[in-house]
Amino acid sequence: MRIFSGIQPTGDKHLGNYIGGFRQYAKTQELGEAFFCIVDLHSITVEHDPRDLYERTLDLYAMLLAAGLDPNRSTVFVQSHVTAHAEASWLLSAVTSFGQLGRMTQFKEKGDVREFVSAGLFTYPVLMAGDILLYRTDRVPIGDDQRQHLELARDVAERFNSRFGETFVVPEGIYPEVGARIMDLQETTRKMSTTGGTEQGTVKLLDEPDVIRKKFRLAVTDSGREIRRAADKPGVSNLVDILAVATDCTPAEVETAYEGKGYGDLKTDVGDAVVAFVTPVRERYLELRGDEPELRRLLAGGAEKAETEAAPTLAAMYERMGFVARG
Ligand code: TYM
Repeated sequence: MRIFSGIQPTGDKHLGNYIGGFRQYAKTQELGEAFFCIVDLHSITVEHDPRDLYERTLDLYAMLLAAGLDPNRSTVFVQSHVTAHAEASWLLSAVTSFGQLGRMTQFKEKGDVREFVSAGLFTYPVLMAGDILLYRTDRVPIGDDQRQHLELARDVAERFNSRFGETFVVPEGIYPEVGARIMDLQETTRKMSTTGGTEQGTVKLLDEPDVIRKKFRLAVTDSGREIRRAADKPGVSNLVDILAVATDCTPAEVETAYEGKGYGDLKTDVGDAVVAFVTPVRERYLELRGDEPELRRLLAGGAEKAETEAAPTLAAMYERMGFVARG
């Protein structure tokens, strides 16, 4: 079984990324042969600071290792180190529908709030489809916000296969049972995000413990007093989910444990649980991040493995599309 996922080296990584992404990656690497890609090419689709991209690429790598990815077991690499990604994206743009790209919610959301909307922001999902398809991926662990992009990747794979012959595996998503969509703690109907969320409502993985506790203490809860998951209680539902993940139990168990208790108790306990949950990751991160030459050495090994795996797929794409190979 082949597993692939990608994550952008932009913004500060937050609890949503950890719960919907990183935490799953470490688990899924047990299922088979896994590839995890730091998608730096995706990060230039919105305005970026070059110095920042450089630092954050290495930050994210150290963070992924701290979250439990093992570079000896999984292939962890930087997207721009493997040029097949950029090439695949161009080839696949021939079988991607313009209309479907225009319907992507992420494009609409990010595009709406910007004066300058890059062409890259629009074609972003094609690059993502290439990432996944190059490795003949069976399963893609992601959070809920990437569902539509994965659907598009599946459509692209099917269209390519039917026009040019069976080339790609049509991948399926793996979504966490709890925590596939962690919400902003202040604006509880928006997903937690460093690009679109609120500062107080976004719990960053590198926030100091006291900052984390404070953000949870100030979390917006809903009317009523009951601690249970419900559609009209997005704030409370989110806290229940986070507590369930951080203490490794089910939301139903959290609801039972908090019968008769108040929102204040819940907020304090979630804050403490999250601090306990992320502190070891943060400490390990700080240790790893200090040794940049070692991080770059490990990344070079990852790129080599990824390149070897991607090359035959890319060659097959060129060949089936009718390109003359260099003699
Ligand atoms: P990115 O970098 O925004 O997010 C990385 C992972 O974190 C998940 N996530 C969340 N999960 C739960 N609640 C949230 N609030 C939350 N916010 C983010 C995301 O679903 C994701 O799994 N386009 C992708 C990167 C990408 C990719 C790929 C992913 C590029 N190529 C190929 C999979 C396969 C993105 O921007 O993720």
